[in-house]
Amino acid sequence: MRALKISSTFKTQHSLERGSNVALLSRREFLSGTVAVLGATGLRHPIWALANASVAGGALPSQLLLGVDYYPDQTPENLWEEDSRMMAEAGFTNARIAEFAWALMEPSEGKFDFAWLRRAVETLHKSNIAVILGTPSAAPPPWLTAKYPEIVEVNAQGARLYPGGRRFTCPTNKTYRRLSLAVASEMARAFADAPGVVGWQIDNELTLSSSPRCYCDFCRAGFQEWVRAKYGSLEHVNRSWGTVFWSQTYTDFGQIPVPLPSGGDPNPGLALDYDRYQSYANSSYLEEQLGVLRKVCPRHFVTTNNVGLPLDIIDLRSLYEKLDFVAFDNYPGFFEMLLHEQNSGPVSPDVISSTAALGHDFGRSLKGGKPFMVMEEQSGKAGQRSFSPQPEKGQLRLWTYQAIAHGAMGVNYFRWDTATFGAEEYWHGVLNHDRSKSPGYEEIKQTIKELKALGPEVLNSSYAAETALVFDYDCDWALQIQPGHHELSYVAQITSWYGAAAASHTGIDVILPGVDLTAYKIVLAPVVYVLSETQAAKIRSFVQNGGMFVSNFRLGVKNENSQIVRTPLPGLLRDVMGVTVEDYAPIYSRNPGVKFSGALAGPDGECGIWADILQPSGAEVLGTYASGAHAGKAAITINSFGQGKSVYIGADLERASLDRVLRSLAASAGVRQALEVPSGVEMTVRQSGDKHWIFLLNHTATSKTVSIPRACTDLLTGQWRAGTVDLSAYGVRVLVAS
Ligand code: GLA
Ligand code: ZN
Repeated sequence: MRALKISSTFKTQHSLERGSNVALLSRREFLSGTVAVLGATGLRHPIWALANASVAGGALPSQLLLGVDYYPDQTPENLWEEDSRMMAEAGFTNARIAEFAWALMEPSEGKFDFAWLRRAVETLHKSNIAVILGTPSAAPPPWLTAKYPEIVEVNAQGARLYPGGRRFTCPTNKTYRRLSLAVASEMARAFADAPGVVGWQIDNELTLSSSPRCYCDFCRAGFQEWVRAKYGSLEHVNRSWGTVFWSQTYTDFGQIPVPLPSGGDPNPGLALDYDRYQSYANSSYLEEQLGVLRKVCPRHFVTTNNVGLPLDIIDLRSLYEKLDFVAFDNYPGFFEMLLHEQNSGPVSPDVISSTAALGHDFGRSLKGGKPFMVMEEQSGKAGQRSFSPQPEKGQLRLWTYQAIAHGAMGVNYFRWDTATFGAEEYWHGVLNHDRSKSPGYEEIKQTIKELKALGPEVLNSSYAAETALVFDYDCDWALQIQPGHHELSYVAQITSWYGAAAASHTGIDVILPGVDLTAYKIVLAPVVYVLSETQAAKIRSFVQNGGMFVSNFRLGVKNENSQIVRTPLPGLLRDVMGVTVEDYAPIYSRNPGVKFSGALAGPDGECGIWADILQPSGAEVLGTYASGAHAGKAAITINSFGQGKSVYIGADLERASLDRVLRSLAASAGVRQALEVPSGVEMTVRQSGDKHWIFLLNHTATSKTVSIPRACTDLLTGQWRAGTVDLSAYGVRVLVAS
């Protein structure tokens, strides 16, 4: 399956426990406090407050958080007032500011200056623009790195990065942590009661770097401590990693290395634990700032923005666990440009729209369906050294509605004006370089106006999903350590499976292991390379109780220590799947054909880069290899287990077959599709009680017609519709059945 590669280029672009008294206070205080603050800025009943609070008090939020990312630190002060006034005119209700302005906030160590920022907040507030403040720790100033060069990250080759960009920092380093916490604490104290301030973004896109993991001596010491806490004894470490191999037995925790180049690949168990440690290091780094913000600013919400999509460096569920809501950045046009570069040619609109949708569904599911925020949404040509074209007319609106359709409670456009200096001079904003209105300005203004009129009911509705797609960091990281085939990428598999499942236009939650499966009719889980006993038990009981579980090759190969299981594959799920994997084969030439049968009978398919050869032990065969060394052997099976079914797709199916197979399986699992829509049109449903809102999103440049079996009201025009509705190029409709 080579439909999509997300390379590291894309990635480059892109604990303190909270005091218990604060934790007790903050829920109710948070709600009432923030409502009061927003009331003062002209915003009422913020939807994100309800997203957190169990105490909704019956009030429905009346509008989305619709804002813009703004850099007063990069703008002459005499323009701030005009900027604020123009933002208000465009309809924006908030601005996120200050997240890289460390050098201005702390011009030398321990000397803080927030006067300028206070004036900026006041100016925005005068125009009723609420403020989300970013703590500036992603961009330590030169005085800091000159004095403390040890805070700079060491990359996977063992080379120290250089200051001069941003995000060149080690998450473990105590000096970096101390100084990040100091500036965040001073900032928190300075703005705890500032009128207009409603919330915080801690740092910016943690791990956004060409080398997202640090391998320095501080990280090594931190890793050794983490390993000690996890395993307790060296005996346990040695056993779990299998260190007898290549004479790696550790007799002191201080001997444990980090996976830097060492004349041979690292121990897979150690390498997987290092990924987990680095993820923990980043989360615990963030939690230090969170601790202080909770204490000093109990009325403000706190979040952080991640790069978006399940890219895949930090366990985002842990990262957001104590934050108020998930926030991420979304640049579909920029993403399209990168894919174009990597694939040396145009990319189908479906790939872009479903990749963005995957990011949204992942963001929503990370906190169990709570509304999320797009902290940065593309507003124009986007890029650094090279940049994407201006989004087509309608696309900015479409991308905004797509976020709302998937459960967003807020969208901030990146950025207000376009910088005339610095590394992002070509990352275009709502204003052009000369401060005239950008080509997207009117469309954004119109979108905001429409969204404000949507009404509280739809904004409070939930996203309807009967399908779950499992995303598992352990599988991803373990597979990056040992892909088995250079083209086998977990993220690419997830993206293809999401794209194939999304094509049937039934809601999808993108869940992590451990999430309750009972709410779903079908659970899709590609490349479950690492399988814990707990997750296997969850899957077993899901199927036993009538669910359909669908997986593919490499199922259950490894345990959580990244050791290969000593039982025939698929290990812990052999009885559930009703098959034994007779052999497994990476494929480099002569792709075998796949012949479908039974419930999947249809056109022949092709096996891409991997084939698990299946020996049914009770399962029914739905596909066989049609050529090659394993011709005639089972490639796809379905098994009845308890009241449910489990499907093993041993072949790496090409996209057309995968689409057909997943669609047919979802239908047989009873997944309902609200409407048939033409290709290129995305549909999602949000619901509240018996009421359903159908979002139709045309991601293509041609107009489309959708048949609607029941008469509906078009919420955006107020018109009654029956029979069909048409969608213009990049058009959007929100229908509610009348
Ligand atoms: C990211 C960052 C921003 C900015 C934009 C555009 O998502 O969070 O600071 O760099 O992209 O590059
Ligand atoms: Zn480090």
